[in-house]
Amino acid sequence: MRPARTWMRPLLMVGLSACVSLGCGDSAGAGPTEDAAESDSLSGDSAEDDASSADSADAPAADTELPPEVPLGALWGPGVAEDLNPAPGVVEVHLEARTKSMKLLGIKVDMMAFGGQLPGPTIHARIGDELIVHFDNALDEPTTIHWHGLRVPNEMDGTPRVQDPVPAHGSFTYRFTLRDAGTFWYHPHIRTNVQIEKGLYGALVVAEATDPPVTADRVIFVDDILLTEAGMPPFNATMMEQMHGRLGNTLLTNGVAAEPLQATAREGDVERWRILNPSNARTIQLGIEGARWRVVGTDGGLLPVPYSVDRLTVAVGQRYDLEVSYDAPGTAKLISWVATLDANDQVVDAPLPVVEVAVAPGDGPADAIAWPPAVPLPEREPNAHLSVEIDVVQGANGLEWRLNKRAMWMDPLFTATTGDTVRIQLFNRAGPEHPFHLHGQFFEIVRRNAELVTDEPGLKDTVLIPGMESVELRAYLDNPGRWMAHCHILEHAELGMMAEIWVVDPE
Ligand code: C2O
Ligand code: CU
Repeated sequence: MRPARTWMRPLLMVGLSACVSLGCGDSAGAGPTEDAAESDSLSGDSAEDDASSADSADAPAADTELPPEVPLGALWGPGVAEDLNPAPGVVEVHLEARTKSMKLLGIKVDMMAFGGQLPGPTIHARIGDELIVHFDNALDEPTTIHWHGLRVPNEMDGTPRVQDPVPAHGSFTYRFTLRDAGTFWYHPHIRTNVQIEKGLYGALVVAEATDPPVTADRVIFVDDILLTEAGMPPFNATMMEQMHGRLGNTLLTNGVAAEPLQATAREGDVERWRILNPSNARTIQLGIEGARWRVVGTDGGLLPVPYSVDRLTVAVGQRYDLEVSYDAPGTAKLISWVATLDANDQVVDAPLPVVEVAVAPGDGPADAIAWPPAVPLPEREPNAHLSVEIDVVQGANGLEWRLNKRAMWMDPLFTATTGDTVRIQLFNRAGPEHPFHLHGQFFEIVRRNAELVTDEPGLKDTVLIPGMESVELRAYLDNPGRWMAHCHILEHAELGMMAEIWVVDPE
């Protein structure tokens, strides 16, 4: 079966921003950003007439007292959502969810997509910007949009606990200020195991106040989906899937199943790769060959100290920003290590290239570049404690995944006061692993199995807890509201591994 390349446009260099298209504003940032803005903006540009959006009537006019906007650089990867609002400091986009029939590996599959593309359009803005998303639900079922990792106001969190689901063929406007820079993503929060598997997800890239002088900024989703000759098999129908989540048999890299994505670079270039794992259940293991690379950012943004690993483990929901430097011409590859059977039916890790970069001769080895200031880690000692046990029992309708012996919490699992620093201990009393995710806040990973953790630095919103192991977090609960805490193996979440942590302002 020789699949055709899909309808997607994953290889296009797309860069849109109000400022690029309007040519507004000189860079307010100094020094290193100038290069980046210039070289990154080359391919940018919509010839769109975005000056007259009806929705922008109430936005501040471009000539008010707001500081000049630093133009956003180009992003490689899924097409970028067009900013309909010319005002600086505001990014206003339209997003529609609808069904989409597509061919993957020659198989016709009924998918769902934002804006008709898979992954959905990347939303690109800068820290401090106001983001306005006009969402239309063209599906025949309700949905919502959750902004994974972002500290949004609670009523904008896009879960059915904080908003009425957007009904089939209904609309909703999300609006909030972007408090954090980094790599985030958006996805529905209803029937997640179906809607996300079918393709409803996209990246939300929030640029730092100044851009690093990278030669390319790449958004790379590595998804794992399950396909049969008949398309997508029924959901959560097997004990295996209820136990381990839906493990796929096909990698989709920015929507492409058949072959590695192709890109070009030059010797001496330094790039930023933003890696996202939107799979239902698969933890991915990545490596890069043919280039020098290190981790410069994680869920909560840029790290104070970049670090190196041989293989990068990316749990479902997590993000990693990598610095990729080309010291020599050749081919650089992003490899996903996948378990397969060898000739003797033994399980082995096979390297599957998912991105290939042809590196042309250039100026010799790459120089170090200066990254914008890291996100400062709060230096706070815990003043509260939450202990959570994860287990699984046989329920009336299949497995029930539980937190502290209860499935699908409706009242709070824990209530904190805004500003609390909570020591959260998670004990996995079952065999399968769990990527545990907390909405609306960041935490640090402090211990695994009572040992101090030194190799998972930075602020996170998702942590992987292997089977029968424990993890200790330090959570900075600074954002008031009722926030979901759940497993990001979507089958587990749908089968009960879902609770809320309430963060309440002091009286
Ligand atoms: Cu990625 Cu509850 O979310
Ligand atoms: Cu789980």
